Amino acid sequence: MINRIAALKLIPMVVMDRADQADGFADALVAGGLPVAEITFRTPAAEASIRAIAKRGDVLVGAGTVLTIEQADRAIDAGAQFLVAPGTNPKVVDHVVKRGVPMMPGVVTPSEIELAMSLGATALKFFPAENMGGVDTLKAYAGPYADARFLPTGGITPELLPGYLKLNNVLACGGSWLAPRDLLAAGKFDDIRSRVQQAKNILAGIASVGNQL
Ligand code: 3PG
Repeated sequence: MINRIAALKLIPMVVMDRADQADGFADALVAGGLPVAEITFRTPAAEASIRAIAKRGDVLVGAGTVLTIEQADRAIDAGAQFLVAPGTNPKVVDHVVKRGVPMMPGVVTPSEIELAMSLGATALKFFPAENMGGVDTLKAYAGPYADARFLPTGGITPELLPGYLKLNNVLACGGSWLAPRDLLAAGKFDDIRSRVQQAKNILAGIASVGNQL
């Protein structure tokens, strides 16, 4: 699963206000050539949106902003194939690992990296990436934490994307610019598809650095 994410290189992160728009959103991702999404558990529509996308089978769907065991269970039961959290909550990570689902807990500091890795996670969300030193911080982590792979999110733009993806310890990046909440809420799926296609063009221009786990 983590290697599939590494191959896709970019995860659109979304806040879904209406589960009945999940299909239109998934169609836009498939048409744009980036069939992956992280649906954040920030709205009541998250669970049903994950279920709707998982049922299709053509989009790798994960749950984001998973803060509690209860949310983790709801996400997994809805069909989420991977879970992401902004921080590292040992109880949640332990529970998800026991359920056999890949989880990327969030880290910023060396101590948080060590905690997350001690819980069995090697794919780690680095959030909020741009506020926390971005590319330079990740370069510094490559020495002591050679086994860690990061999913930077927070403040990443199309312009910044290549700088992150060229790092050997970056698995993929996450970003909300591909499908902003207002475009989703308005059902502007053509706009979302064109943002995804633009991002795919950027990805195509980045040489593969073989950053799989
Ligand atoms: C988040 O958790 O909201 C993300 O990291 C998204 O960040 P972005 O909106 O800067 O892409």
